[in-house]
Amino acid sequence: TMDAGGGLRTPIVAVLGHVDHGKTSLLDKVRGSAVTSGEAGAITQHIGATAVPLETISDIAGRLVDPDDFDLPGLLFIDTPGHHSFSTLRSRGGALADIAVLVVDVNDGFQPQTLEAIDILKRTQTPFIVAANKIDTTPGWNPNPDTPVQQTLAEQSDRAEQRLNESLYEIIGELSDNGFSADMYWRVQNFRGNIGVVPVSAETGEGVPDLLAVLMGLSQRYMKEDMSIDTAGAGAGTVLEVKEERGFGTTLDVVLYDGSIRTDDTIVVGGKNDPIVTDVRALLQPRPLEEIRTEKRFEKVDEVTAAAGVKIAAPDLDEALAGAPVRVVRDRPEEEVVEEVRQE
Ligand code: GTP
Ligand code: MG
Repeated sequence: TMDAGGGLRTPIVAVLGHVDHGKTSLLDKVRGSAVTSGEAGAITQHIGATAVPLETISDIAGRLVDPDDFDLPGLLFIDTPGHHSFSTLRSRGGALADIAVLVVDVNDGFQPQTLEAIDILKRTQTPFIVAANKIDTTPGWNPNPDTPVQQTLAEQSDRAEQRLNESLYEIIGELSDNGFSADMYWRVQNFRGNIGVVPVSAETGEGVPDLLAVLMGLSQRYMKEDMSIDTAGAGAGTVLEVKEERGFGTTLDVVLYDGSIRTDDTIVVGGKNDPIVTDVRALLQPRPLEEIRTEKRFEKVDEVTAAAGVKIAAPDLDEALAGAPVRVVRDRPEEEVVEEVRQE
């Protein structure tokens, strides 16, 4: 688990976008870069999330991220599926997120689930940036793996740069049609009123340093106050999915955004009828990739601190609802927590 040093938690970053536009590939690229730079152990897979610590972000982003400029501990990414049938998962991801990356294929432009994602981000008032992905597919592209985008742009032919710019300005136009003023991220001064567009390639890693730098910078600048939590406080989170797990029965895949949860905690979860009060039986995290076996995919942990993804095993979860709140009771009256969950 990532340590939320000084009580500042990791911002939760939702990755949203149309099917096949490259959401998972971008996260794979970030994970892959960390492996290459000998930091594989630094990145941890959570249930439904990937935690990337600041040091690793700085290693990937190079001169674009000086770790001394930041006190947030890193970024927690939530991948979401782009297929149209998964709109509830996208909504949950969007509602949980402190900030989002809207991934748009530069060739394909805005598509139905791009628009759906924008609606979610508007409704939840989640600040976001656009990753204009697959720039390496621009005809005549000269790839410069893992470099910042302006550096690789300087090494393209006029014709390739022009082709890419046409696609990028189409995306900026689509954002404008949807009520957002947008520009290339390096021209954006005020990210509160303007959407920054980051040209990237999940294939070559071009622009990935910029993407991480912009996310880190935005979080630090605009979200630091919201990230201040009592890491020892009673945990609060959202159920992403309710799942049967062999040996554990019905379990909850939860993203914890506040406080902590421990194996001796009582929790309250939103249910089909009334809130469910139950005792944690086990807290589970995925095993590191190299250790995954079909029999034992998870390892038990004693405590998880926000922000984190965790699988909670407990009795009586059959009626629990995906999307519902989860609250740790700890030293508050149980009834008060039940009411809080009922109201939400
Ligand atoms: P869903 O989860 O199904 O919504 O898709 P996704 O957005 O996660 O897309 P995914 O990462 O699975 O990528 C879809 C396809 O596009 C794969 O074949 C990738 O290899 C390819 N792809 C993704 N990013 C890039 C890129 O930057 N350049 C190129 N050339 N191909 C890419
Ligand atoms: Mg995917």
